[in-house]
Amino acid sequence: MPDTPRRRVLVTGAAGYIAGINLPALRQRYDLTLVDLRATRRDGTAVDGVVEYDLAADAQGGYHPSDRLRQLFRGVVTVFHCAYVHSDWTTLDGYATERGNVDLAYLVYRLAYEEGVRRVVVASSNHAADWYEGPLRDGRLDVLSPESPPYSANWYGWGKVAYEQMGFVFAAGALGRPLDVVQLRIGAPRTLEAARYRDNSVGYRRDLGAWISDRDFQQLLVKSIEAPDIKNEFGVPFQIFYGISNNTRAFWSIRNARRAIGYAPQDDSEVTYADDIRRLLVGADQRGRLNDLSGS
Ligand SMILES: NC(=O)c1ccc[n+]([C@@H]2O[C@H](COP(=O)([O-])OP(=O)(O)OC[C@H]3O[C@@H](n4cnc5c(N)ncnc54)[C@H](O)[C@@H]3O)[C@@H](O)[C@H]2O)c1
Repeated sequence: MPDTPRRRVLVTGAAGYIAGINLPALRQRYDLTLVDLRATRRDGTAVDGVVEYDLAADAQGGYHPSDRLRQLFRGVVTVFHCAYVHSDWTTLDGYATERGNVDLAYLVYRLAYEEGVRRVVVASSNHAADWYEGPLRDGRLDVLSPESPPYSANWYGWGKVAYEQMGFVFAAGALGRPLDVVQLRIGAPRTLEAARYRDNSVGYRRDLGAWISDRDFQQLLVKSIEAPDIKNEFGVPFQIFYGISNNTRAFWSIRNARRAIGYAPQDDSEVTYADDIRRLLVGADQRGRLNDLSGS
């Protein structure tokens, strides 16, 4: 990727998993402001340079950012929003937690808007449209594009839809200046350990389609940050990209990311996991189990 002048990028949820995948690439390229509740990862290792700050305190019951937080947003060109509180997605109570996440997103968009930030890139999720996975599995749908109306049957997905749409309100420009907004519907950003899928060949096939390698994720994020113009076909600076590699088994479209920002993923789960696929799937029965690994 060509060298670019260093810009200031603020990362929320900077001690989290998604930020952790991307921090090496971001540290190389940008001056960073890292914000999180805590300065350590889940495994207890320290993350350099994190400002410990509870964003929820400024979002609860309305919008009241402290001067300290406002200061952190000053001079920032792009925000990468990853702060997130995990919810119990499928119970009625999941709503309250996800509503808190939506309030957090509002705080971030509005502060960015008020403090002259040019672009907000949001760690969204494929779950914004996870309802379609049934039709995708049983052949009623071949491939899902980010332009399809988003539907989810759980609060996690609902929360992602809510803050994707909220981002559109800020991007549309009716509030004043349009804010550039990119939503990354991240797929499966992890090593696919075959042993975890022993009785779940459907899940294994799914994750082979949903997988994104670290270097492809970093490329997608950097291009989302740096693309000079992210206007959609109607002139609104708003994009939703699926975050997956160049997977042979892909069932979400990344055509718009290729076109709008030149995303050119280098990896394909079919190649990376070729040995596992041969051992586990070729000749597997139809009962959902993978081939027996014992003795192989
Ligand atoms: N991990 C995945 O596989 C995956 C896949 C798709 C999408 N995503 C999305 O990416 C985003 C980040 O997920 P993650 O896996 O990194 O989660 P994570 O829990 O590892 O990280 C979230 C971070 O946000 C911080 N945080 C929470 N509340 C905060 C607050 N009030 N103020 C400041 N910081 C706060 C947490 O301390 C944590 O470090 C989420 O929106 C998630 O839905 C993740």
